[in-house]
Amino acid sequence: MTETLPGHAVDADHYRRALAVHAAGVVVITAQSEGIPVGLTATSFSSVSLDPPLVSFYVDRGSTTWPWLRSADHFAVNVLASDQEEVAARFARKGIDRFAEPTRWRPGPLGAPLLHDVSAHLICLPHETADVGDHVLVVGLVAEAHVYSAGRPLLYHQGRFGRFLAHS
Ligand SMILES: Cc1cc2nc3c(=O)[nH]c(=O)nc-3n(C[C@H](O)[C@H](O)[C@H](O)COP(=O)(O)O)c2cc1C
Repeated sequence: MTETLPGHAVDADHYRRALAVHAAGVVVITAQSEGIPVGLTATSFSSVSLDPPLVSFYVDRGSTTWPWLRSADHFAVNVLASDQEEVAARFARKGIDRFAEPTRWRPGPLGAPLLHDVSAHLICLPHETADVGDHVLVVGLVAEAHVYSAGRPLLYHQGRFGRFLAHS
């Protein structure tokens, strides 16, 4: 274990290795901006508040999707199911049309794309944003929530996708 003096930041390599052992659920954030569907894979999604119902995620300030997301009047959180690792990989890949075949999606009630076969959709209205380090914290007010299956989630751990196995 490497010790670090108080007030000093750990180096990137130790940071990455420590965070890699933290398993996370995987979502795809989608929106429609100027008629164009946009979306990106995120593991930084989290619940924030019940009253009011708020959720959050962090987006890299260098993300080419962020300027489009920022100008959208709402966004959708697509909670991926355990068999959707290809969807997760596709929405993290640059230089492709992420919404082209084989991606299956439909426009949601307010227009943001909803991916098919996910565990749940949350439709969110922008609540606030804050610059935090090299990311932007995006907080959304959950306007609608639709749960389709209480099935197994897609997880990300040590750079790989996997499944959840309950003890009982
Ligand atoms: C498993 C996984 C989780 C990711 N989580 C995030 C995240 O929480 N925030 C983020 O900004 N990027 C995250 N990314 C990276 C983005 O999905 C990817 O860099 C982005 O889509 C790049 O395209 P863009 O520049 O078009 O936005 C993640 C990628 C993967 C594979």
